[in-house]
Amino acid sequence: MSAKGRPEREFSSPGGSAAAKPQAWGDHLTNDTLLRALRREPTPYVPIWLMRQAGRYLPEYAALRARAGSFMALATNPSLAAEVTLQPLARFPLDAAILFSDILTVPDAMGLGLRFAEGEGPRFARTAADEQAIAALTVPDLARLRYVFDAIGEIKRALAGRVPLIGFAGSPFTLACYMIEGRGSADFATVRRMAFARPDLLDRLVRVNADAVGAYLAEQARAGADALMMFDTWGGLLPPAAYRRFSLAPTCSILARLPAGIPTILFTKGAAHSLPAIAQSGVACIGLDWTADLGDARRRFGGRVAFQGKLDPLALLGDPGSVERAGAVLFADSGSAPGYVFNVGHGLVPATPPENVAALVAAVHRASRSCNAGQEASEAAHSGG
Ligand code: CP3
Repeated sequence: MSAKGRPEREFSSPGGSAAAKPQAWGDHLTNDTLLRALRREPTPYVPIWLMRQAGRYLPEYAALRARAGSFMALATNPSLAAEVTLQPLARFPLDAAILFSDILTVPDAMGLGLRFAEGEGPRFARTAADEQAIAALTVPDLARLRYVFDAIGEIKRALAGRVPLIGFAGSPFTLACYMIEGRGSADFATVRRMAFARPDLLDRLVRVNADAVGAYLAEQARAGADALMMFDTWGGLLPPAAYRRFSLAPTCSILARLPAGIPTILFTKGAAHSLPAIAQSGVACIGLDWTADLGDARRRFGGRVAFQGKLDPLALLGDPGSVERAGAVLFADSGSAPGYVFNVGHGLVPATPPENVAALVAAVHRASRSCNAGQEASEAAHSGG
């Protein structure tokens, strides 16, 4: 450990000498099930974590957010961000922590002025929707995001190697959607119009975002993140060829800039049509939304990439028994090959009862352990052992 308590990292650069030994990610962890699954190695059970596992469905989150005054006050304070990150782990035996932050901190650092109005979602003070505004954008000074790297340091110290910490960022295209519209939207019509009317402008915007996100994620790895995830919530709004140009291509250019050996996850909502291209992108794991066919994806591409997902988060709104049944159906569909991480297919919603999360985590661990034990017994029987 360094003087600051951060694990020291030696990176072998992608273009480095062949003799350089890649970092053995996760060596310091007690529970490295997630990292093994991302590398498609066998695990004693299927690891599970949940998108938005720290959030409004937890009363302790609501209390801390009220005390901090706003979402940004929480996210920009490293000790509060660390406390929120750890809240779900105190309740449930999850196999990973995810940094508490937001994808929109990067455009905020680019000068767009982010705020989260209570009950309204994100709002930018300025947009990047015309030639002049887009031309003026540059990769932000990473010092403006220092609170994120400091939070990672605090979380790693508090975790003390119990489970891996996932760092994250938005995909260049999903960030562009919010930067162009200045807020969320049901259909991001201005963005889709720009893809046809001014593809050169959209190209420029996603390129500067890719440079910013590449530098930002590499710094998260340096600060101690054990795996890196990119959220492409809106890539699926585009037709396949435009998706590959404006979303997947800039995302691939980020992967090439990350430290060699760090496991990566790319979650895309609504892009199952482009699975063959995503599987070729170099990402270690593909995050699927709830509409995707997990069994089919695993059969076709499971030899090349790991998969994560994809329980409908609304399945968690029933009673614990129905949650366990929904989990069991998905688990059976996932098949027994290594390389699967259980998750929801989009973030948990605020109405999720915490006891249903407990039931789901226990059921996934139980079912996958007994399946694994059954497999080992049958292998032993066949080898005469
Ligand atoms: O998953 C986690 O627990 C880690 C933290 C995390 C947040 N946002 C915290 C958050 C992560 C990984 C995100 C990613 C994110 N943020 C995405 C991609 C994934 C997705 O949900 O599609 C997007 C599109 C955003 C942008 C964003 N942030 C929106 C549209 C909103 C408001 C609506 C909503 O979904 O809640 C947020 C606010 C936000 N980010 C909350 C949390 C816990 C709610 C916070 C609050 O109001 O207290």
